[in-house]
Amino acid sequence: MARLVTEWVNVTGDISIIARESGEVWFHTPSDTKKDVDPFATPMTGVGAKGSTVGLLDGAINLGFAGIEKRVARPDPTLVGYIVAVVGAYHTSVDTPRNLQRAARRFNELGRPEVAAYLEERAREETGHDRLALKDLRALGVPAERLVANFMPEGIEPLCKCFDDLCAQDYPIGCIGYSYCLERIAALKQETDIEKVRALCPDGVDATRFLRSHSCLGSEVTHVEETIEFVASLSANDRIRVVQETYESALIMAEGYHHELLKSAAEALPHLLSSYPSHGENRGARPAA
Ligand SMILES: [Fe+2]
Ligand SMILES: [Fe+2]
Repeated sequence: MARLVTEWVNVTGDISIIARESGEVWFHTPSDTKKDVDPFATPMTGVGAKGSTVGLLDGAINLGFAGIEKRVARPDPTLVGYIVAVVGAYHTSVDTPRNLQRAARRFNELGRPEVAAYLEERAREETGHDRLALKDLRALGVPAERLVANFMPEGIEPLCKCFDDLCAQDYPIGCIGYSYCLERIAALKQETDIEKVRALCPDGVDATRFLRSHSCLGSEVTHVEETIEFVASLSANDRIRVVQETYESALIMAEGYHHELLKSAAEALPHLLSSYPSHGENRGARPAA
């Protein structure tokens, strides 16, 4: 019988994520004293598999959000809060196609046409999402263009900067980790979350175009599945970088947690790893921050 694939990535100095193809995930603290006998002390070099790669990616998101529960107060959603969230959504989507195309060009220069093709496809799929946000704002009677030109919600700028920087790197593989983090969290949003927003909007107003397309009802679910498959096919070094940037992006997103669109998604985060068996050392659970 073929051996199950095990993958691991050190994401912070003292925590590595270990994931098996069967779906189990551990958070492992490398021990200095046992370095010679710790098989996870050196970076992985083997092939990836979908079951273990998704464990690493989702483990990285859970780890990034690990500190959040303690400081969250959850006021009821408001229409103003939602408008702020849609402005944030506009800013995180307006430059996405251009950034992804830039990274794709770099991978073509590097002789990696398969990565370039993946990024170009993503760029095509993300085109026009900023316009969904503008339409939502207009539907709510807000001067959309003026608002987005003059207002950047708190917590959004560092996210945009993170993606800009990743796409401009000499070896921009990390941008896939950022995209995974945002899309995976968006895909956690349920129909009930959309209903809650509808209830805030004036009667007959459809202002959930962006939200619907960035929820479990929209294209994000397929984007996430395709990304997992693609990342699993990459070399060990590339997978390590992608998982590390997924973690870094989750940390930045967790900082901006008060941002309305993230709330419902972050509430669903515990479910990310809940399908995994939960026995053993920190297995499938969020470690305390
Ligand atoms: Fe999008
Ligand atoms: Fe997407």
